[in-house]
Amino acid sequence: MLKLTDVSVNYGSFTAIKHVNIEVTEGEIVVLLGANGAGKSTTFRAISGINKLDNGEIYFQNRAIGGRAPDKNVQAGIVQCAEGRKLFPQMTVQENLRMGAYVHRRKKTEIKHSLENVYELFPILKEKHHHDAGSLSGGQQQMLAIGRALMSKPKLLMLDEPSVGLAPLIVEQMFQVIEEINREGITLLLAEQNANAALSIADKGYVFENGEIVVQGTANELLANDDVRKAYIGA
Ligand SMILES: Nc1ncnc2c1ncn2[C@@H]1O[C@H](COP(=O)(O)OP(=O)(O)OP(=O)(O)O)[C@@H](O)[C@H]1O
Ligand SMILES: [Mg+2]
Repeated sequence: MLKLTDVSVNYGSFTAIKHVNIEVTEGEIVVLLGANGAGKSTTFRAISGINKLDNGEIYFQNRAIGGRAPDKNVQAGIVQCAEGRKLFPQMTVQENLRMGAYVHRRKKTEIKHSLENVYELFPILKEKHHHDAGSLSGGQQQMLAIGRALMSKPKLLMLDEPSVGLAPLIVEQMFQVIEEINREGITLLLAEQNANAALSIADKGYVFENGEIVVQGTANELLANDDVRKAYIGA
């Protein structure tokens, strides 16, 4: 479904990711692991079309998409749920969700159906549908950001650190919902520092260090890898 071949991205003279190769098969959950500044978000932005490529190519459903505008990618089904959430705090939960539907020309009934689906995944959003987004807790805002991404009908959904800053119980719920989204047929690419939780739901993963992939493998291989355990799982 998605393939990065030899992708590099520079910020000025600084190379943030170097010769990155990633493959995501339809239906998978794939996780990018790595410490702060390792290059996970830059990889996401390269896939979204926000960062231009300085080397390599990106293929989505066998089409080269390197350098394509972000809105074209969203229309094609590549949807990123941004780090930092970027909601409209003065708008209600439901208004924020509806914003996600604007990328496609869709019938009212179809949008309503998507909305119901999001409310099923996140009952708390239904309960709070007419509250301002800014009044929600951190975890609820994260759910809303994911819900809004779902409203734009992703084929590939990219979640950048969905568990960051959340209480342990909420983290657990978050990963359960991610699995449920995947069961609905959406392919997932996650960036995470919570390696244990992410690998427990992922099919495979890539470990970034200083912009390069240093280890890759199935989730079980990575969980059993001593270096990965020491660096990211603390055991
Ligand atoms: N807009 C930018 N301009 C210059 N350098 C940047 C920019 N964005 C990121 N970088 C640098 O690129 C490198 C990779 O950053 P990136 O945000 O991709 O890492 P990350 O793995 O997502 O980290 P984090 O876990 O902190 O989100 C870092 O050294 C970072 O300082
Ligand atoms: Mg990041």
